[in-house]
Amino acid sequence: SGTALPFKVADLTLAEAGRHQIRLAENEMPGLMALRAEFGESKPLAGARIAGSLHMTVQTAVLIETLVALGAQVRWASCNIFSTQDEAAAAIAVGPHGSVDAPAGVPVFAWKGETLEDYWWCTQQIFDWTAEAAASGADWIGPNLILDDGGDATLLVHSGRDFELAGAVPADAAGDSHEYRVILAALRASLATSHDRWTRIAAGIIGVTEETTTGVHRLYELARDGKLLFPAINVNDSVTKSKFDNKYGIRHSLPDGLNRATDVLIGGKVVFVAGYGDVGKGAAEALRGQGARVIVSEIDPINALQAAMDGFQVARIESVVEQVDIFITGTGNLNVITTEHLLRMKHLAIVANVGHFDNEIDMAGLEDLAGAEKIEIKPQVHEWRLPTGRSVLVLSEGRLMNLGNATGHPSFVMSNSFTNQVLAQIELYCYPEKYPVGVYVLPKHLDEKVARLHLDALGVELTELTPEQAAYIGVSVDGPYKVDHYRY
Ligand code: NAI
Repeated sequence: SGTALPFKVADLTLAEAGRHQIRLAENEMPGLMALRAEFGESKPLAGARIAGSLHMTVQTAVLIETLVALGAQVRWASCNIFSTQDEAAAAIAVGPHGSVDAPAGVPVFAWKGETLEDYWWCTQQIFDWTAEAAASGADWIGPNLILDDGGDATLLVHSGRDFELAGAVPADAAGDSHEYRVILAALRASLATSHDRWTRIAAGIIGVTEETTTGVHRLYELARDGKLLFPAINVNDSVTKSKFDNKYGIRHSLPDGLNRATDVLIGGKVVFVAGYGDVGKGAAEALRGQGARVIVSEIDPINALQAAMDGFQVARIESVVEQVDIFITGTGNLNVITTEHLLRMKHLAIVANVGHFDNEIDMAGLEDLAGAEKIEIKPQVHEWRLPTGRSVLVLSEGRLMNLGNATGHPSFVMSNSFTNQVLAQIELYCYPEKYPVGVYVLPKHLDEKVARLHLDALGVELTELTPEQAAYIGVSVDGPYKVDHYRY
């Protein structure tokens, strides 16, 4: 385990700039501020030790400080190499009452532009509670909760424990990605110093709350295979998360990313959006709003029909690839854009991904493509000169471009997501008996509560049911108002 560094960020002197932004964000995050008011005294998370792996942005800073206000101890890393806002990370390290000379915040390990080796080192740091153990006089403590986005922290614990039980980390195999090799190398180093580190950590974890579609998908797979080690709350599928953050968040941050990266006029362009789930719907709507002609692709007939009824052309990429100016992937799937597609694209077509991982675009294939040359236009914007003589512009090296090229979703929508996160952490920590090992969504009354906490700020006047009306439609005046399978 070694000595846990207090934190690692790009530049601590950015803390004041970060603190200003946090202050403004608090005003736009009424759900989180309401939880501070409701639970700040009773501190339901006292004793909670949260290992957090989620984009280290200004909005996440407000989440972290809410968890702390509710009594938790926290260690934090970003869940993407490009998504950290360095000023937010600095402000979190310094803390609201510390200074650059005497930082007194949360141990955070995150900076914009990490290497993959840095990234997995940072992820390991959120599990190393050596400093907290020393401060409390304990021999050893680990985290007791994980707050995850995309499942990398959860993956590290499960893989680490698996390899410890097997007594060794497997050798690199031919088909392994570079990133998987980095993870294996990190775990080999871990096994060289301890044979039960991850086993002990896993045993101490009460549960995980998972932010996104891709991480949730991994959790359901672990549960199906009987490998899930602790209960999980699927925050993504709270209605007030996926139907808001994934959709309205992308509607804001996708054009933001395109503009900051390229400043290309979107109006009049042909844009291709792969996937018409929550993220794809927000993407397509935003781009149409800018005056683009949007073509959608789907593999699911229901979503394909939805896209058509919403007025979008629905086509396979092969049929339209030569006409498209801007490509956006948001499927959570792999190899949606292949090197064959890249080779057929217009000169300087923009290729960008908003799905969780960088394999939606075959970046590995592009890197291996003979004769292809990569030119940095600026950080997170690369021209790839292809052997055809044409180029494509790839944003954020194929990773989440709304976080890599812009600053992710804005505060108000993240307040909805993160209010669900905090409620989910409270549920797992305070009511573990309700959650045997498995994957759960929050009960509907909490989902409705999250929405309710955001109405006043928008001047929404909610109609109240009369007792007679409530009886007529068979619900209570105070909710829940819908059956669990209602789709919104
Ligand atoms: P979803 O499951 O609602 O939508 C994905 C859609 O892609 C589905 O309708 C599916 O049928 C379709 N699809 C799958 N394979 C396809 C293929 N080969 N071609 C065309 N369509 C295909 O998932 P959601 O919530 O929209 O999330 C999508 C991804 O975005 C996930 O990886 C999620 O983690 C990520 N995400 C990213 C955010 C960001 O800030 N960039 C925010 C929220 C989610």
